[in-house]
Amino acid sequence: MNLFDVYPLFNIEIVKGLGCRVWDSEGNEYLDLYGGHAVISVGHSHPAYVEAVTKQVNQLGFYSNSVINSLQQKVAEKLGKASGYDDYALFLINTGAEANENALKLASFHNGKRRVISFKKSFHGRTSAAVRVTDNPAIIAPVNEGMPVTYLPFNDLAAVEGEFKKGDVSSLIIEGIQGVGGIQVPPDTFLQGLRELCTRYKVVLILDEIQSGYGRTGKFFAHQYAGIRPDIITVAKGIANGFPMGGVLISPIFKPVYGMLGTTFGGNHLACAAAIAVLDIMEEEQLIANAANVGSYLMEELAKLPGIKDLRGRGLMIGVEFEEPVKEIRNKYLFDQKVFTGVAGAHTIRLLPPLTLTLEEAKEAITRLKHVL
Ligand SMILES: Cc1ncc(COP(=O)(O)O)c(C=O)c1O
Repeated sequence: MNLFDVYPLFNIEIVKGLGCRVWDSEGNEYLDLYGGHAVISVGHSHPAYVEAVTKQVNQLGFYSNSVINSLQQKVAEKLGKASGYDDYALFLINTGAEANENALKLASFHNGKRRVISFKKSFHGRTSAAVRVTDNPAIIAPVNEGMPVTYLPFNDLAAVEGEFKKGDVSSLIIEGIQGVGGIQVPPDTFLQGLRELCTRYKVVLILDEIQSGYGRTGKFFAHQYAGIRPDIITVAKGIANGFPMGGVLISPIFKPVYGMLGTTFGGNHLACAAAIAVLDIMEEEQLIANAANVGSYLMEELAKLPGIKDLRGRGLMIGVEFEEPVKEIRNKYLFDQKVFTGVAGAHTIRLLPPLTLTLEEAKEAITRLKHVL
């Protein structure tokens, strides 16, 4: 059997990782400014993470959601404390798309409405509701088209209010910082305006923090720069440092009903052990502060480089937009300088390194980029 060929792959096989470094099957070492797409939060193969996951799998890898799993409660307590959302409830699943799927469903169960407001350039996943609120018709199949969605531009609060006034909007979903859309930061005043409108018109405000959350931007959640509190927050990617896991943080306005949401694998013992280890390491190594410091350094140094049209982002979520298409720059950075990055569109390189990136490693990344430009 062959693999279903949907990924354009680099001809590289990564076989080992440690901290912010990875190695390929030929023994080449790379600096990882991509973190496997913002997934590696506490660094590859962090010893405390490896120990916690190993210990758990030796004891019990999985049992179903039909019995008590106190590890889930431990994740909820630690996450509530670390994020400032102690009073919210947690529902655990396996991916980012599933987190958004459940968030949109919960909002609709809550107010009985159907239409969703999303934003231009948004990305929220590939399952049915999550892909429907994604602004990319190429990945929306006819079977996904049923749910009514309106895509609006950033910064147009009047347009949002115009849609809310029609009375049929269930929820509004927005990324803390748009990732796939090119690291677009919603202005704080825009988020504050959305919060106010959602409250006034009883529309559920969903913040997708799947890429921008978990400390990446220098605060636990990117929306915390705006000082707002959404009704629902979705997380995934960095939550378990590579173990598939997602979560929905749910405000006390929502009342749970048995059977309303559910999953076989979500919140399993192994995933919870990984998630607990991540939160412990983040606290012990002060990784949110590190993301802020090392991110500021990178921004300052990148601003001095030639050919850059725009720099966007916060902390260790950075978009570097070049005047020219970035394909050649990115390939040279990877194959000649051995540095992994991501892209967002034809002109923007995306930096999403592990939150453990040191100043020394950031300096090395800049020096290597200078060799390319
Ligand atoms: C903002 C955002 N939401 C949702 C998703 C979907 O997450 P997953 O691929 O885990 O389903 C992603 C993935 O890139 C994302 O960046």
